[in-house]
Amino acid sequence: MSEADLDQVMDLERAIFPYPWRRSFFLSDLNRPKGFSIVADDGGFIIGYAVAWGTEETHLANLAVSEHERGKGIGAKLLDEVVAFAQRSKANSMYLEVRVSNTIARRFYAKRGFVPTYLRKGYYESGEDAVIMEKEIQEEDKG
Ligand SMILES: CC(C)(COP(=O)(O)OP(=O)(O)OC[C@H]1O[C@@H](n2cnc3c(N)ncnc32)[C@H](O)[C@@H]1OP(=O)(O)O)[C@@H](O)C(=O)NCCC(=O)NCCS
Repeated sequence: MSEADLDQVMDLERAIFPYPWRRSFFLSDLNRPKGFSIVADDGGFIIGYAVAWGTEETHLANLAVSEHERGKGIGAKLLDEVVAFAQRSKANSMYLEVRVSNTIARRFYAKRGFVPTYLRKGYYESGEDAVIMEKEIQEEDKG
């Protein structure tokens, strides 16, 4: 992801999430040491993105795919890139927060080795709880 991507990323973010990140969040993550952000691009159109950071523990902070492009493996590819970043960072684990009501995403992560570990009460601005899901990064997987 680069600064030039942010107009399109923000359009998607606003369309997808009821409480979207501000542009400044993405901008600061672009410049964050130990940060990783990536877009999925289809002929100049951004159709998905992921943002993560951390060293010992990688935090997957944002992952989204355009509604019309879901179910085609794009989310899985973006997640693979974040796992590869975690491996390069020699992280022991990776974690994320997901809305309790987001059954599609919870299933998506569970199928890819993430285990629900605990509930963060009232985590979202709406008051909804977050499920924390974690995945161990295996020693032999690390770069
Ligand atoms: C979660 C998300 C990133 C997955 O992206 P994606 O590109 O659809 O992911 P994939 O195509 O790799 O896999 C989608 C999986 O969801 C399943 N799925 C279930 N219902 C679906 C639906 N209505 N539309 C699309 N996929 C659906 C697919 O069958 C697939 O499962 P599989 O691994 O068994 O094949 C995407 O749904 C999304 O952007 N959701 C909104 C934002 C969000 O919730 N982000 C996560 C916040 S923690």
